[in-house]
Amino acid sequence: MAPQAKKNRDYHEQTNIAHAGRQYCEHGMVNPGVYHASTITVPTLDDWFGGTQKYRYGRYGTPTLRALEESMAELEGGHGCCLYPSGLCAITSTLMITLKTGDHLLMTDSVYQPTRKFCETILKDYGVETTYYDPLIGAGIKDLIQENTRMIFLESPGSQTMEIQDVPAITKIARTQNIVTVIDNTWGAGHYFKAFEMGCDISVQAATKYIVGHSDVMMGTATISKELWDNYRHKYLLMGMHAGPDDVYLALRGLHTLDIRLERHMKNTLKVTTWLETRDEIAEVMYPALPDAAGHKLWKRDFKGACGLFSIRFNNGKREAVAAMIDHLSLFGIGASWGGFESLVLPFDPSLYRTATKWPHEGLCLRFHIGLEHPQDLINDLEEGFERYNQAL
Ligand SMILES: Cc1ncc(COP(=O)(O)O)c(C=O)c1O
Repeated sequence: MAPQAKKNRDYHEQTNIAHAGRQYCEHGMVNPGVYHASTITVPTLDDWFGGTQKYRYGRYGTPTLRALEESMAELEGGHGCCLYPSGLCAITSTLMITLKTGDHLLMTDSVYQPTRKFCETILKDYGVETTYYDPLIGAGIKDLIQENTRMIFLESPGSQTMEIQDVPAITKIARTQNIVTVIDNTWGAGHYFKAFEMGCDISVQAATKYIVGHSDVMMGTATISKELWDNYRHKYLLMGMHAGPDDVYLALRGLHTLDIRLERHMKNTLKVTTWLETRDEIAEVMYPALPDAAGHKLWKRDFKGACGLFSIRFNNGKREAVAAMIDHLSLFGIGASWGGFESLVLPFDPSLYRTATKWPHEGLCLRFHIGLEHPQDLINDLEEGFERYNQAL
C-alpha cells in the first residue's frame, strides 16, 4: 500500500472522494498509473493454474480499473462495481445478466428512452415481458407484481419529467418477494442519492455525466450488492465487457472533484430555477429541490442534494416559439448529454412515449442542464430567449 493511503478510519464522504483510488497509487504520486494492458504474463505454470496472480489479462482488470471500481463501490455504498463503455451499456447488460426468458420486468414509465427501446426490442425478442408503471406508484407497485416478476427498474428523478419515486416503499415490497431492484442513479451520481441505503440491489450510472464531469468520455458503472455480486461479476466477465484505461483514468480524475462540482451545479440551478418560477411563460419548473416543486417532500427525505438537471413546461409550448427561444441562445447548446461543465438545453414531448399514464399537457417542454457558468449570465441569456419566444407566439 502506498504511504499516502488513507488510514483505516471513518472519513467524511468529501474526504473519501478526494482520496478515491489512492490505494493504487505508487511512488508517492496521488494519481494511479494508466496501465495499457492486454497481455499480462505470469512467471510459472503453477502461477497460471493456481490463479494466484492478481492481474492475468487486460479484460479482467488492471490497477487502473480497480482504482475506479473500488472508488465507485465505496461512493455508492455497494459491494463491488463493474465498468462499462457507456451508461446505456451498463443498463442493458444489467438487464441481460439479471433476467432470463420467461421473466417479467416492471419498468418505470419515466425511464431514459433508450432503456425503454431496449426493453421493447432486444429484451422482448429474448422472451422477457415488460410492464411500465407510473413512477409515482410507490407501494402500489405490489398490485403489478406477477408470479414471474424478477426485477423492478427505477429511475429517480425520472428522465425529462423528473418525478421523484418513493424508492424505499418500492424496494421494501420487492425484498419481501425476492425481486431484484435496479436504479438508474445518474442524477444523484451516487453522492446525493444512496441507492443501497434505500434498499436497492444494483445502482447503475451513466458515469459519462457527473462522474467524468467534463463531457469528454463515455462510461457506465454498475454497483452491486454483496448478495448478487458473485453471479453478476461472473456473467459480466463472460460478456467480455471492458472500459479503456485512458477513459477510466479520466473518470477517476473527474470523481475527485464530484463533491465541489455538484455543489456548484446545485447552487447555480437553484438561482436559475427560482428565477424561472417568476416567469409568466412557465407553467411548471420540474426541479425537486424547489420547495413548491412536485416531489420536493420525497427529495428532501431521501436525497442529500440536487444536480444541475431540470425541466420546464410552458403555458404554451408552441414549436415556433420554443424554436425562436432556443435556436439563438448564446450559452446553452442544444444537446443530449448533461453532467459536464457546460449548460445545455433539450426539447422533449412526453406525450410521444409515455404509456402507463397519459401525459396531460400539450406542447413542447425543455430540459436544461445548468453548468458552471455564472448564473446571472445564464439568466440574461434566457431572458433574451423569452423575448424571442413571446414575439413568436
Ligand atoms: C438517465 C440516463 N441514464 C443513462 C444514460 C445513458 O448513458 P450513456 O450516454 O453514457 O450511454 C443517459 C444518457 O443521457 C441518461 O440521461
